Amino acid sequence: MRQAGRYLPEYHAVRGKARDFVELCLTPSLAAELTLQPVRRYGMDGAILFSDILMLPYALGQRLAFREGEGPVLEPIENSDGIARLDPGQIVRRLEPVFEAVHRVAMALGPQTTLIGFAGSPWTVAAYMVEGGASKDFRRVKSWAYRDVYGFDTLIDLLVEGTIDFLAAQMAAGVEVVQLFDSWAGILPEQAFQHWVIEPTRRIILALKRRFPNHPVIGFPRGAGLLYERYIAETGVDGVGLDTMVPAGYARARFQQLATVQGNLDPVFLMTGGPALETAAKELLQTLGGGPFVFNLGHGVLPETPPENVEALARLLAGPIANS
Ligand code: CP3
Repeated sequence: MRQAGRYLPEYHAVRGKARDFVELCLTPSLAAELTLQPVRRYGMDGAILFSDILMLPYALGQRLAFREGEGPVLEPIENSDGIARLDPGQIVRRLEPVFEAVHRVAMALGPQTTLIGFAGSPWTVAAYMVEGGASKDFRRVKSWAYRDVYGFDTLIDLLVEGTIDFLAAQMAAGVEVVQLFDSWAGILPEQAFQHWVIEPTRRIILALKRRFPNHPVIGFPRGAGLLYERYIAETGVDGVGLDTMVPAGYARARFQQLATVQGNLDPVFLMTGGPALETAAKELLQTLGGGPFVFNLGHGVLPETPPENVEALARLLAGPIANS
């Protein structure tokens, strides 16, 4: 999850071949290679497409750059004029190289390895589009949403439609599962969460299921806390990504009868390694491994993570303790 490749030397070797990060995502041979790297190294059961949630705003015509040490920078959208300048008709055409990368990876992976596609959720993508990048408290996007519900809904509706197109095209090109990253779901109060997280997600899943009824959809409403359960019950997700803070026993009791749960090892354990990593991984397996479960981290791999720790975890999960 999240910007995972940065801890791998082979990632940096390939990254250097493109002028910038956007070009990397839009060069099928490089994006396919980066998708396959961790599978080759560890023999993972799943591969996540190498791309970024901000490729959708890029395809809508918003200027996007990734600056060293600064994260993503977008030209902020401030009002309805900004929304009117977006061009939703070009999404699939402008993202053609992404679908070509999907196709290449699907051809290269064996049938035992699942290819996972993804997009950001409308709320999280809108947050970056309006703030112009990361933000401490996202007050610009929240105040627009609260002040001008109908105006802001225009942007969300456009992103719902764009996300459906983006994910359906990934499925048509060969992804077998998709994940919706709602990294900033957890900053909204109850009614706003219902309106801008649950509703758009429900609409996206409904539309995807009509075209691809057998492709599972995983939702990751990071930080949703007490609203996780409603999210699972009302969006129609097949699987739910748990952030690090969700107690595993609570997820077993309340979520596993509704959906497959995915998560949620603290990435700092993976960075730390040793017996602490082993104990935490085993505890997680013990609590959630009896029901529908996909082992994952609660958030992205930290760039300082030693690859040997990932190797050790992969071996542990493939071994007899995990399967007992
Ligand atoms: O992890 C993977 O390599 C799989 C592909 C993937 C990327 N981004 C590649 C990437 C995925 C699934 C994402 C998701 C993503 N991107 C999210 C949702 C998950 C989460 O993290 O909450 C978000 C919010 C983004 C937006 C984004 N992209 C940010 C904030 C940054 C900069 C981070 C930083 O510290 O500079 C990126 C860049 C990015 N996306 C990189 C990668 C491999 C790093 C680029 C580099 O510096 O080499």
